[in-house]
Amino acid sequence: MKLLIDDADIQKIRAIYDKYAVDGVTTNPSILAKCGRPPYEVLKEIRSFIGYNHELHAQVLSLNADDMVKEAHQMIDVLGKNTYIKIPTIPEGLKAMKLLAAEEIKTTATVIYTPMQAYLAAKAGANYAAPYVNRIDNLGADGIDFTKTFQNIIKTNNFKTQILAASFKNSKQMQELCEYGVGAATAAPEVIEGLMKNASVTAAVEEFVRDFEALCGKGKTMLNCN
Ligand code: E4P
Repeated sequence: MKLLIDDADIQKIRAIYDKYAVDGVTTNPSILAKCGRPPYEVLKEIRSFIGYNHELHAQVLSLNADDMVKEAHQMIDVLGKNTYIKIPTIPEGLKAMKLLAAEEIKTTATVIYTPMQAYLAAKAGANYAAPYVNRIDNLGADGIDFTKTFQNIIKTNNFKTQILAASFKNSKQMQELCEYGVGAATAAPEVIEGLMKNASVTAAVEEFVRDFEALCGKGKTMLNCN
């Protein structure tokens, strides 16, 4: 499962990249709004930091297919290769996905709340489809179960579309989909860091240090313990 950062704050992105092996960055208009700066300025900054081998996902705002396609062209011009154009999965969005697939422009079908919405995005040729796991949970449905159903639909129908599971709020949601083998997941920096939060691990590491220092002296490591 690929792992992406769902944020546009360059400091937070740098902090996650520093420690974790991640595959890129996803954004949406609400995430960009939180930065309070011109969208292309922020997106270019992210692209320049992550380079062209990593994925950058950014969303169109138009609600009709022709304008979505125009936005996509401009975004690709500015942000370059390995940019995935996020398109809301509405009827006009499906049309835009078909048109962009014909041009081999990569798309991520977003705002997915139902399995058949995901099915239609796959039919339209989207490279990724992004189910909103936690938002589905918040509707009283089961976002994990829905995403597993979508994975089964992809396999049964031999679709090339990959799942980019999104909208996570906790480690368990991510673990279940990782175990199920979905293509990718994107999560906020806090959720990614939460994957490693474990008091028992911290206590065990501290105990090793204490025991070693009792043997060799404060601050000693394998570099200077002789
Ligand atoms: C992904 O495509 C969405 O933009 C995003 O993950 C939604 O996450 P949220 O529910 O935390 O806003």
